[in-house]
Amino acid sequence: MCGIIGTIGFPDAADALLQGLRRLEYRGYDSAGIAVRDDSGFAVRRAVGKLNALANVLNDAPLHGTTGIGHTRWATHGGVNMANAHPIMSGDRVAVVHNGIIENHRILRQALSAKGYTFHSQTDTEVLAHLFADAVDQTTTLMEATETVIAQIEGAYAFAVMVADYPDHLAIARQASPLAIGISDAAVFVGSDAIAMGDVTQRVMFLKDGDYGTISKQDIVIKDASAQLANRDITIVAASPGLVTKEGYQHFMEKEIHEQPDTVMRTLGAFSKTDGADGTDGADGAFALPDGFDFSNMTGLAYLAAGTSYNAGLIGRYWMEQLADLPVVTESASEFRYRQPSTRHISLAMGISQSGESLDTLMALRYMADKGVDTAALVNVDSSTMARESGGYLLTRAGPEIGVASTKSYMAQLTVLLIMATIAGHQRGVLSDARRAEIEQMLASVPRLIGAAMASAATIKAIVPRLAQAKSCLYLGRGTLYPLAMEGALKLKELSYIHAEAYASGEMKHGPIALIEDGLPVVALLANDEHLSKSISNVVEAKARGADVIIIATESAAKLAMDEIEGLDGHVATVPDCDALIAPLILSLPIQFLAYLTAVHKGTDVDQPRNLAKSVTVE
Ligand code: G6P
Repeated sequence: MCGIIGTIGFPDAADALLQGLRRLEYRGYDSAGIAVRDDSGFAVRRAVGKLNALANVLNDAPLHGTTGIGHTRWATHGGVNMANAHPIMSGDRVAVVHNGIIENHRILRQALSAKGYTFHSQTDTEVLAHLFADAVDQTTTLMEATETVIAQIEGAYAFAVMVADYPDHLAIARQASPLAIGISDAAVFVGSDAIAMGDVTQRVMFLKDGDYGTISKQDIVIKDASAQLANRDITIVAASPGLVTKEGYQHFMEKEIHEQPDTVMRTLGAFSKTDGADGTDGADGAFALPDGFDFSNMTGLAYLAAGTSYNAGLIGRYWMEQLADLPVVTESASEFRYRQPSTRHISLAMGISQSGESLDTLMALRYMADKGVDTAALVNVDSSTMARESGGYLLTRAGPEIGVASTKSYMAQLTVLLIMATIAGHQRGVLSDARRAEIEQMLASVPRLIGAAMASAATIKAIVPRLAQAKSCLYLGRGTLYPLAMEGALKLKELSYIHAEAYASGEMKHGPIALIEDGLPVVALLANDEHLSKSISNVVEAKARGADVIIIATESAAKLAMDEIEGLDGHVATVPDCDALIAPLILSLPIQFLAYLTAVHKGTDVDQPRNLAKSVTVE
């Protein structure tokens, strides 16, 4: 998703902007650009593709100046090309970087064209540039010009604008898309998030929706949505870990897969009472949730999320209903808020989101808040919009996740969802002290079991060349392994571009079985649960119709399947035996390896798959 960076007063603006863009790379992008004010006006450099391409352009034609803006673009309106890469100009008077969608851009484009403005790109952003040029003529201050522009645009936006007539200022605004201001002794910055400015400052002012204003080295003037002057607190954000590196792994995703034992350990630690967490849990369990998370009298819970986080929420639903007898709806946030859902029975709406910025999830939470429902967020970034806006939040400790396809933050989400269901079960009198202690024991064993499950990569590697030839494939699972199958199919699709669908094993006979023909890969997930014999029967049915069955299973479940089905040698990847409750966590490893290694085999862009963005801040 597009990323914004800007600075006023930094000695080498272009360098600071490029570093900021590198920090925003995790959001996903397909072109990038920088504009710097120099003695003769605005100088712009753009490049399609990765930031190294922009760095090369800057090497050949350096920019000199202390004020500038930069952008990584994830195409929404208009193709991926130089003309559509930001900064977008209005002549030599205005330069704009923008994240979001100006929804009424067509009508504005017509009006501006009629006034004589010429459009050079297909972007919705270009109307912003020309609107600024137009507004500057009708007003006497940059603030007034900004107000004139904002009054005309509809949609989601965060922007930073340089106007030639106001050389010492940037105009900024945010509506739904994130934007923050960073303050250092030497300069002022603006960025899509605190991470973007992490190299240069920890002092960050997070803007609220509807905020706009002007910034210069001397003063920061912010107004709120009702045009009143607003004071926004300066937050000291955690020291930045610096640019995240691959540490010798081929891809960030590979590194992040291997970090998962540590991720789970850190997440368990953060909720462990001995490590300092103290709050709501009712009695002497090993884990606690922050104060305010009391499930005792709740009538229903909604998990709202997108993508991989949605798949985590589906597994969380099985756990919460099973362990705490608390009804849960898990729903795609993008659907939920528009279908006029009945919210009467829902006591708490929890957004699940790695970034804490996905617009669909944020909007669904706001919808619930408007309905008077308590909200909470399960996020990986504590300075994120969802964390700040929700009634309370739970933090996963995955650290920065760079691979667009989520692995370790998904694992951390599952860990928190299981801790939460266990505590809720105990609070609600469904789980005895002894059962809770048993589950806590299992949770503590997860990092070790995940570590051991890494060994499945070797078997998966041998399976991958066959899977990589496929055009399409099915994933099957029952119980919590059904949403895990959904996650497996999503991962394979997004990384290796092979069409993959997940079905509840029991549903196969109701339709998808018609697809099975010689050689169709069918990935079946098996664990030592009450569904095992039924799930094996479903595998038999697929195999009888010629499917190329790939079994991903706990050791003893795999053994049972191999006893019952002939010809599975070389088609089975196993993980250590474990209780069915934690099986989705442990079986996630071979699922991730299957997608990762298939993508590596096919040579796709593993860390930044085509068309995908890490954090999607448009609808
Ligand atoms: C995008 C990413 C997915 C991610 C989803 C939700 O679509 O490509 O990998 O799962 O957003 O992101 P979130 O930050 O809300 O978990």
